[in-house]
Amino acid sequence: MTLTSPGIGAPLVREARLRTYAMTPPVHFTVSYAINPWMDTSVPVDTDRALSQWHTLRAAYESLGHTVHLVDPAPGLPDMVYAANGGLSVGDTVVAASFAFPERAAEGDLYAEWFARNGFGTVHRTTGIQEGEGDFLVVGDRILAGTGFRTQRSAHDEVAAITGRAVITLDLVEPRFYHLDTALGVLDDATIAYYPAAFSERSRRLLDDLFPDALIATDADAEVLGLNLVSDGLNVVMTDRAPHLETLLHDAGFRPVTVDLSELLKGGGGVKCCTLELRRTRTMSDTLIP
Ligand code: ARG
Repeated sequence: MTLTSPGIGAPLVREARLRTYAMTPPVHFTVSYAINPWMDTSVPVDTDRALSQWHTLRAAYESLGHTVHLVDPAPGLPDMVYAANGGLSVGDTVVAASFAFPERAAEGDLYAEWFARNGFGTVHRTTGIQEGEGDFLVVGDRILAGTGFRTQRSAHDEVAAITGRAVITLDLVEPRFYHLDTALGVLDDATIAYYPAAFSERSRRLLDDLFPDALIATDADAEVLGLNLVSDGLNVVMTDRAPHLETLLHDAGFRPVTVDLSELLKGGGGVKCCTLELRRTRTMSDTLIP
């Protein structure tokens, strides 16, 4: 698909790149504690429904040609379905998470072991608290990093040192948007969509400077976690509840692919939260065959 970019006049081509994801089935998903404003332990959760919605999401990735690796879910860790929080994978380096709340702490080791066992690169840990791709989003060569609710500022420096990438700190100020991936979605190596009200004044100015062509989400888009999306550069897998954002994406040359993840929204997560991108440059066989 070729579009004309109005500002520059050069043709703008949206291209899909095949991706590799890790996902954890919500076999043990429920809301038995509340660590973000979306979680309400008095609202019943239908685990079978969550599983069937999750299967639809997985099938959407596979039908787009992407590879999905499965992480084993563990009993007693209902939030493990939010695989994005398990770590950050950049090239042949993985940083496994160190969770903010004791309820999720055990997930850090499980994800670290999974990365190591499956050859997804050298696994690093941080001293500072950080929740993987919940707060670290890769945009081209840079990493945007959220802080304010979960990931500590000090972990941004650690991730910069481990990955060798520029890490750009963004301050989150709205409790409902407690992870960066709830307020900002990466569309391709240079394009993002975000919800300005979730960020401090300073961070808003920074985002505006860095991404003057960003798509700006409305309250209604953000309130259904519309920005918690996964893009391959062309196809954007997202909630079916954000029609305004869907139109913005479509008009910008992307192809929205919508799914219903309403049951998993009860835990405060959406499409992106359930999806960890693995960016290892080597192939699986490099690791498995000596
Ligand atoms: N209940 C989980 C928590 O509060 C939801 C995590 C959502 N994940 C994400 N990447 N935003 O930790």
